[in-house]
Amino acid sequence: MGFIELENIKKIYNPNTTLEVQALKNINLKIEKGDFCSILGVSGSGKSTLLYLLGCIDKPTSGIYKLEGKDVSNLSEKELAKIRNEKIGFVLQDFGLIEEETVIENIMVPFLFSSKNKKSIRFKIEKILKDLDIFDLQNKKVNLLSGGQRQRVAIARALIIEPEIILADEPTGSLDTDTSNNIMNIFKNLNKEGKTIIIVTHNLELAKETNKCYKIRDGLIYKV
Ligand SMILES: Nc1ncnc2c1ncn2[C@@H]1O[C@H](COP(=O)(O)OP(=O)(O)OP(=O)(O)O)[C@@H](O)[C@H]1O
Ligand SMILES: [Mg+2]
Repeated sequence: MGFIELENIKKIYNPNTTLEVQALKNINLKIEKGDFCSILGVSGSGKSTLLYLLGCIDKPTSGIYKLEGKDVSNLSEKELAKIRNEKIGFVLQDFGLIEEETVIENIMVPFLFSSKNKKSIRFKIEKILKDLDIFDLQNKKVNLLSGGQRQRVAIARALIIEPEIILADEPTGSLDTDTSNNIMNIFKNLNKEGKTIIIVTHNLELAKETNKCYKIRDGLIYKV
């Protein structure tokens, strides 16, 4: 039994309309616990679509998604939300931060939806903020931060529920080389702690640092 298994996954947006897009045509993919994977592919190839499916943010049009042996392809919205809140830390392509709120307010957002034990939460938050080197920024509004700082806030928010799986969509997209390497090191350390990590990237050099690399082309996935 794989940790994450996709079988014949298809994702069609707006099926049977003039706006129909076959974003994923037939995806078969196995990811083991503790893997550090990267997904490459040109713009529009389906990378974010795949990540949304893996993150239980969206459902496939057809095919089977098994997470820890359990078929999650046809769960209700409520059941999917439960999985997301318990297991998955998602770093969105555009960070998805609330601009007018402070760093700490943004990081606390997942707790609004999580039933996880909130004991020792202050200690945990402090550790994450320090690990990501944003402790001193915690009371700043997000719209005053640099790209790299925002990226670390988005990662901190994903980590706050202590997810087993971290999905990150272009986590170094708009960052300079040093900042990208710094973000990559954060993921490497999380992976060493045992987290399963899947990142989408355009950067081949960064992809080489992961232990499994895939490429999406025309809605199909290939091992690189
Ligand atoms: N919500 C949606 N409704 C309709 N079509 C969509 C939707 N989201 C994505 N698509 C289409 O599906 C295809 C795959 O999009 P996706 O966002 O997965 O690509 P991507 O590889 O992440 O691209 P990028 O590198 O630009 O982020 C594209 O043709 C896109 O236009
Ligand atoms: Mg994308």
